[in-house]
Amino acid sequence: MSKLPKHIGKIGTPPIKCQGIKTKLINFIAENIKWEGDGRWIEPFLGSGVVLFNIQPCRALVSDTNKHIIHLYQQIQSGKIDEVLVKAYLKSADEQLKKGGQDYYLEVRKRFNEQGSSLDFLFLNRSCFNGLMRFNSKGGYNVPFGHKPERFAQAYITKIINQISWIKKMMKGKDWVFEVADWRQTLRQAKEADFVYLDPPYIGRHADYYNNWTEEDAIELAEVAKRLHCGFALSMWLENKYRKNEHIENHWDGLELRSFSHFYHVGSREDLRNEMQEALVLPGKNLNNIPLQIKQDIEHPIQFKLFE
Ligand SMILES: C[S@@+](CC[C@H](N)C(=O)[O-])C[C@H]1O[C@@H](n2cnc3c(N)ncnc32)[C@H](O)[C@@H]1O
Repeated sequence: MSKLPKHIGKIGTPPIKCQGIKTKLINFIAENIKWEGDGRWIEPFLGSGVVLFNIQPCRALVSDTNKHIIHLYQQIQSGKIDEVLVKAYLKSADEQLKKGGQDYYLEVRKRFNEQGSSLDFLFLNRSCFNGLMRFNSKGGYNVPFGHKPERFAQAYITKIINQISWIKKMMKGKDWVFEVADWRQTLRQAKEADFVYLDPPYIGRHADYYNNWTEEDAIELAEVAKRLHCGFALSMWLENKYRKNEHIENHWDGLELRSFSHFYHVGSREDLRNEMQEALVLPGKNLNNIPLQIKQDIEHPIQFKLFE
């Protein structure tokens, strides 16, 4: 069940959206990773969890410094949050959002920043501007309202409930541990039969309370990853129309590199789209002696909007 590579027929989407979500890259990742599936799937930059939920390993240790994501998933796993509760919450929120609009959104945001409820987190993530997840320097959610008082129409609530049901189903019977942790702490637990999937934030982009990722952090991660005794893969952007990601050449040299190109829309017009090359870095046979090998094995660019 966990053995990789594999092709995933129907890609599922989790209830939480975040910057850098890998929904469109799932098969690129799943088809390029080799893992016997005996140990644990270790994912220290979990984000939305879309990779974990689609790979569906039997055993996993997954973490993120963003406690809100981890708490939501822990509560779904323990049964404290389920479809019935989410449905009732969103139905009531829908009525209040229709009446109060932005004022109601801001009231929930304030309450969330004081109390940190997972249901409020879900509400904000699914009704804020562009589906962004961004926090101020004190850790407060600071994305403005998406300006859709009718956001939680019946069909949208059903979609979210189905996403909750799906991840609940994926968690059932599996030995999955969700932790709030820094990546260093999680990687210290990796053992030989495990597989580590790394998807750190972009260096210097989307910087916020939970995504303060510097060149120094990225270099430290490269050093630690290369010393792991188990298999690993790292996702990172490789190249766009304007520049190449020099960090890959400078710090992951000697490893095997797969690339995948896709397009993203930069505006509402169909023709306004940019190409982005994504990389998957895998351990080479001989870490420091082989020059970077680039293998582009998927050449069917797909189109998608950044935060759907
Ligand atoms: C690019 S996102 C991961 C996206 C994820 N793969 C997905 O498809 O949704 C990076 C994640 O790393 C987390 N993060 C940032 N700094 C971290 C750190 N020092 N340790 C652990 N997680 C961190 C962020 O909170 C964010 O969720």
